[in-house]
Amino acid sequence: MYQATSVTELRQYLQHWKDHEQSVAFIPTMGNLHAGHMSLIEKGQSLCDRSLCSIFVNPMQFGPNEDFNHYPRTLDSDLAQLEAAGCDLVYLPTASELYPQGLDKITQVQVTDLTDHYEGAHRPGHFTGVATVVLKLFNIVKPDVSVFGKKDFQQYRVISKMVADLNLDVQIIGQETTREASGLATSSRNQYLDDEQTDRAAMIYQILRDAAHQISEGERDYPATEQRALAKLEQAGFKTDYFKICNARTLLPAGPEDRDLVILVTAALGVTRLLDNIEVSLW
Ligand code: PAJ
Repeated sequence: MYQATSVTELRQYLQHWKDHEQSVAFIPTMGNLHAGHMSLIEKGQSLCDRSLCSIFVNPMQFGPNEDFNHYPRTLDSDLAQLEAAGCDLVYLPTASELYPQGLDKITQVQVTDLTDHYEGAHRPGHFTGVATVVLKLFNIVKPDVSVFGKKDFQQYRVISKMVADLNLDVQIIGQETTREASGLATSSRNQYLDDEQTDRAAMIYQILRDAAHQISEGERDYPATEQRALAKLEQAGFKTDYFKICNARTLLPAGPEDRDLVILVTAALGVTRLLDNIEVSLW
């Protein structure tokens, strides 16, 4: 596996692939890789000749009170996993190359509408930081395909909208969420849970599945469904920000006429805030 830290170095590898007419799948990450990330690499490999993963803990998408300094950095283990998975190239950008004048002076990419609610409301500026760094990375890498996890459903939709709105020449693929045997979505944050919390956290996906089942069986009172789910989570000791049944494209609250739905939830145990979702198709 090749490694590049500068744009110049990276472009040499990319040019070589281009000369050989090889397609490139790009998987942007912040490292601390786990089975969920590896499923994105595998997906990229199945679609393109070459796979490229970036690891960059992007300061622009962290709020002032968030865990940028404490975000787990596990480069050796990340590189070993990528190597074992047969990833072709890892790009490890530096903050000074991506943000040479600091974070304040950089042009910002603000994706409209989709970023007003949920994580966008809870973390002001977060999606601007995500969209800006992803657009920069797309312009540096110029991939044919880029794979994003549906685990972060709102992020996946925000990136898809940015690509559509700005006519970017890259195909965005949404990859299904990797889960533990209990149903808990695999996440870097799961390591902060103790054993008892890990067991309890599996309830999030059970409650999502229950709600999805009720909707599939004809339930159309979405506010009532949301209230029941929130009550169950609160009763089990979770602190919830939202449990929202949405139109899967616009992420607006779903109405009875919507057929492609997604239920978005965040539920915290102690200081650990867990994100999950489930899609429901009513066709
Ligand atoms: P990060 O949290 O490292 O996630 C990188 C990618 O892995 C994202 O597309 C995310 O949705 C996906 N992912 C995480 N857990 C997953 C799981 N259990 N199943 C499937 N996919 C999963 O998301 C980011 O980094 C950053 O915001 C980034 C896009 C790199 C921009 O900085």
